[in-house]
Amino acid sequence: MTQHLNAPAFVRHEGLKQWVADFVAKARPARVVWCDGSQEEYDRLNAEMVASGMLIKLDQEKRPGCFLARSSPDDVARVEDRTFICSEKKDDAGPTNNWVAPAEMRTRLDELFDGAMEGRTLYVIPFSMGPLGSHISQIGIELSDSPYVVNNMRLMTRMSKDVYDILGTDGDYVPCIHTVGAPLKPGQQDVRWPCNTTKYIVHFPETREIWSYGSGYGGNALLGKKCFALRIASNMGRAAANGDTSPGWFAEHMLILGVQTPWGKKYHVAAAFPSACGKTNFAMLIPPKGMAAQGWKITTIGDDIAWIKPDATGRLHAINPEAGYFGVAPGTNETSNYNCMETLRRNTIFTNVALTDDGDVWWEGMTKVPPAHLIDWQGRDWTPEIAKETGAKAAHPNARFTVAATQNPVLDPEWDSTTGVVIDAFIFGGRRSTTVPLVTEARSWSEGVYMAATMGSETTAAAAGQTGVVRRDPFAMLPFCGYNMADYFAHWLGLGEYLRKTGARLPKIFCVNWFRTDENGKFVWPGFSENMRVLNWMLGRIEGKAGGVEHLFGITPRYEDLDWDGIDFSAEKYQAITSIDVEAWVEEFKLHDELFEKLARGLPPSLLSIKAEFEDRLGM
Ligand code: OXD
Ligand code: MN
Repeated sequence: MTQHLNAPAFVRHEGLKQWVADFVAKARPARVVWCDGSQEEYDRLNAEMVASGMLIKLDQEKRPGCFLARSSPDDVARVEDRTFICSEKKDDAGPTNNWVAPAEMRTRLDELFDGAMEGRTLYVIPFSMGPLGSHISQIGIELSDSPYVVNNMRLMTRMSKDVYDILGTDGDYVPCIHTVGAPLKPGQQDVRWPCNTTKYIVHFPETREIWSYGSGYGGNALLGKKCFALRIASNMGRAAANGDTSPGWFAEHMLILGVQTPWGKKYHVAAAFPSACGKTNFAMLIPPKGMAAQGWKITTIGDDIAWIKPDATGRLHAINPEAGYFGVAPGTNETSNYNCMETLRRNTIFTNVALTDDGDVWWEGMTKVPPAHLIDWQGRDWTPEIAKETGAKAAHPNARFTVAATQNPVLDPEWDSTTGVVIDAFIFGGRRSTTVPLVTEARSWSEGVYMAATMGSETTAAAAGQTGVVRRDPFAMLPFCGYNMADYFAHWLGLGEYLRKTGARLPKIFCVNWFRTDENGKFVWPGFSENMRVLNWMLGRIEGKAGGVEHLFGITPRYEDLDWDGIDFSAEKYQAITSIDVEAWVEEFKLHDELFEKLARGLPPSLLSIKAEFEDRLGM
């Protein structure tokens, strides 16, 4: 049965071969390619995509090894309204996820996938999320009919035939199935960026399967990323919530960074921010000159996802399950993220950025003065005059780069460590123009969980839909939590309790907001490098050296508690980004109520007690 697939000798897993054979019988691709993750394979697929028009080769002197892809205009972001968690029980998906009964969804997918790959090549992509051989890592196999997906997966994951050695003859893997949903008739040429107006991003948490139909966009199609490393992995980690005696672990939408201090100690911090709110910038931050001269340095372990497991002594070890960055290009420049610009000099796949006349890339915010002429992300002429008249953007606001982590000049030496790094602090931050102060330290783990759970943020272009609307985005996980959010809160509280019982010092939890604006809508806090001052204060708090005052929701630094050397930032401005507007907070608490009402089934009662304490302090 499996013979005609020509599986190479390095695939020894009969169950896997049978799964591929069954799928081939359904989707009927013209051919099957078993990927090995080699450089030769990567180069060959890029050359094929250039030949078919799906990729444009950039000027090889300016951007060696770089390519540009342009998506279909209706396939530019994650589609949250088409994303489903199909658990057996609706209640397990919870009120923040779309749910369809698994049997019904399987019937729909059966129809959609019938012949879905006709005329196309099916690629079998072996990948590891996390360092090969780490006890925290997991294996996935993605079946996809998109060569763009194959090469992006090679940059974003540990994609290699060595994965089959780890799997052996019967190892566990997460089956991930993806099609662009555009079968080809005999003799028909491939279209530039195939996709379908019908889209389904489906997760079956109990069987740990992922099925993605109709989109070629990263977050919908690179199934190791959001679908596996967050939605399925959050289900894997929730063991404690299932009555299991193990404490479980965390799969989080968090960057991980290392902070080298002038006194020779190194800390590791994990930080959650919603999509397109500066995680990549924070993970690659260069400290302000004076602080860098003192010996402060930031190194990157990850920029988007963290898997975090407790050890027996109560320490939390984090790995980055990914091996590359799929970051937002617009706004990235030499000042906002110098290290990122260095990372993107070579071997990068750009998606939906603009093309310059000399074969390079450009996006809004890359340089102060835009080039006089560009080809925009949809292949049309673009000039600053056209932009003024029509408002047309040269790059799509969610234009992306895909690049291997190894190109990052400040990659942490331990980024690939199989044991991970020990986390000292968690940071949670939303994009809020009002209300939330610059930084607050939670007085306890549960107060921190409350702050993270009730986080709000203004929406960005990373997801299809309206931008700039405040929505609750608990733990920056709203679109990524693969089960009931109330149970997820309970998991965070439960794991905190487990850590406390070990007698270990729990990581401190901080809440930040870089995005408060003045009466003209301008950001007050300069952000980027200057965020190092806030980080410095946090480490000072961990060491018991930095001062702060208690306010309604926790502890914040007074003006004099931050190091202002080398920056002109007045006490008045500081007041503007740290003040607490009681009326605004009364309104804010109503929004917390709405969230808690929505999540009433299973909501940990301690969150309600904390809320009552906060309200007492506010005098409500
Ligand atoms: C991402 C996202 O691509 O959060 O990381 O949308
Ligand atoms: Mn993300």
